[in-house]
Amino acid sequence: MITYFDKLDLELEVFMCGIVCAVSNRDISSILLEGLSRLEYRGYDSCGIALFDNKELNRIRSMKRVLDLKKQLIEYQFTGCIGLAHTRWATHGIPSYNNAHPHFSSNESGKPHIALVHNGIIENYEDFRDSLENIGYRFESQTDTEVLVHLLNHLYTGDIFDTVQNVMKLLKGSYAIAVFCSDEPDRIVGARQGAPLVVGVGEGENYLSSDSLAISDKVKEIIYLEDGEIVDLRRHCINVINKDGFLIEKLRHSAVNFVLTSELGKYRHYMQKEIFEQPMAVADTLHGLDSLSMEIFGRGSSKLFKTIDSVLIVACGTSYYAGMTAKYWIESLAKIRVDVEIASEYIYRDSVPNVNSLVLAISQSGETADTLSALKHAKSLGMKNTMSICNVSTSSIVRESLLNYITRAGIEIGVASTKAFITQLTALFLLSISLANSRGLLTNDQEIIFLKDLRHLPSSIGAVLSLEPFIMEWAEYFSSKENVLFLGRGRHYPIALEGALKMKEISYIHAEAYPAGELKHGPLALVTEHMPVVVVAPNDALLEKIKSNMQEVRARGGNLYVFADKYSKILNDSGIKVIHMPECYGILSPILYAIPLQLLSYHTALILGTDIDKPRNLAKSVTVE
Ligand code: AGP
Repeated sequence: MITYFDKLDLELEVFMCGIVCAVSNRDISSILLEGLSRLEYRGYDSCGIALFDNKELNRIRSMKRVLDLKKQLIEYQFTGCIGLAHTRWATHGIPSYNNAHPHFSSNESGKPHIALVHNGIIENYEDFRDSLENIGYRFESQTDTEVLVHLLNHLYTGDIFDTVQNVMKLLKGSYAIAVFCSDEPDRIVGARQGAPLVVGVGEGENYLSSDSLAISDKVKEIIYLEDGEIVDLRRHCINVINKDGFLIEKLRHSAVNFVLTSELGKYRHYMQKEIFEQPMAVADTLHGLDSLSMEIFGRGSSKLFKTIDSVLIVACGTSYYAGMTAKYWIESLAKIRVDVEIASEYIYRDSVPNVNSLVLAISQSGETADTLSALKHAKSLGMKNTMSICNVSTSSIVRESLLNYITRAGIEIGVASTKAFITQLTALFLLSISLANSRGLLTNDQEIIFLKDLRHLPSSIGAVLSLEPFIMEWAEYFSSKENVLFLGRGRHYPIALEGALKMKEISYIHAEAYPAGELKHGPLALVTEHMPVVVVAPNDALLEKIKSNMQEVRARGGNLYVFADKYSKILNDSGIKVIHMPECYGILSPILYAIPLQLLSYHTALILGTDIDKPRNLAKSVTVE
């Protein structure tokens, strides 16, 4: 039985495309495909495998699932002791058979000479395409990967390791690659620049993968490559050079096998399972927390918290909404100014850096390219006080940050983030009271009460989850709608945004969220009897305000679906349906109110029959811009 802490130590990395390769003396075709299957939940649009059988290099690609590759392997009877497998999530070029990896470049006799699988983006691929075409290379795809494979072939020195080293100097972008050359059939060369790549050390065979999850059951040890490093992978030896070309000793970590299969148990989808894992995820995230005096955010955090005069949060998607919620908490409790920036916007605008700011990157995966770039960008502007709240302890964002808080949500498989969000909020509340404490703004009694409230969270979440049957009744109605409006106020506005995002992501119903006070400034025009309006209405200082906003909706014939607590005095009425939350949660209520919105989206999507864990066009973690 693997605990949540064990899962954390699995050092999982998530990304969009998947790479699984091996050098062995046995047929590794089924092992590579099993590795790909382990990465399937992250989403992909095509997949492929290349195998060398001591004579020739063969390839199978598919626009279907990995299962189809298995069928084709049996049909064509392809085997091989060395191979490269890949799941692709389209960036350059549409999802198509020809764009699927592995890509080949052939020698003069027309036989495949170099095979390449690739994650990420080669930004300057167009610089090479025309000249390669002019010297006779024929392109069958629209990908940057095919440009790279021909470039490697063109510049091949007789040693594929040297060739990769030379070619890397010409490339711009973020990528991880694995290369095989049929002239040197005992080795695979891997290189990492901005996208994850790990080496798996087996017995008499070695592996290369973009994620240890794919190979953890086949190897004894894992080596994490850093940016600029290149690995020469053979059966009995593994050599790594750093970005300056020097041979280096790499730390080997014990591989922990994490079996994903049959984990669904009684649940129909990982998303549902992950929603119900939230009490445990929060308990694990808070594990060992006795007082705020501990340096839970890393060594030196207490001192640093006293020196900062503002917080700059960078994040994307759900993690961004967690950051928005934190703004309300930090400004109110710690009286520190907070700016929350969408990472992809922050990178490209002229901002005014404040070197006394704490730069906080929030990310479930720790590999989101935009968030990582935003963090690096802030550092390049002189902001050195960096921190991450992240679910993957070995991720790039964690490695890039001075301080860290690792949420212990365990692996999140559903593309739509649920338990990662709830644990992020938990960690952010902890940060808010820690910042308040470091400024002398928290009395001992308040600290005790807040910590007690945090420890009570898992049981409160459990009680909220018991509302599922009532939410299922609402889902029936929502599944027949094309549009939904979500409203919240104050610290519940980001929760309304997150509710709308969940609804969009998995049910494909158009959903928007507004701070309820904004209704009359525009969105009220959308409200008709056909537009259900979901309201997050806890009994807080803004309750009377949001009640007025609800009246504005009712006056236009809109139907209200309200989550409120008992003391709000909001009752079922004509055009108003209410689900009462089991308790009143005070300042922590955003955490609890997010949960029924997750369940509402889940059950609506279930009725609509969408691919809930792998919604169309989305990947679990976005490692490209
Ligand atoms: C959440 O449901 C989304 N799939 C997405 O918005 C996600 O939160 C975003 O891409 C950020 O990911 P991260 O937390 O791994 O950085």
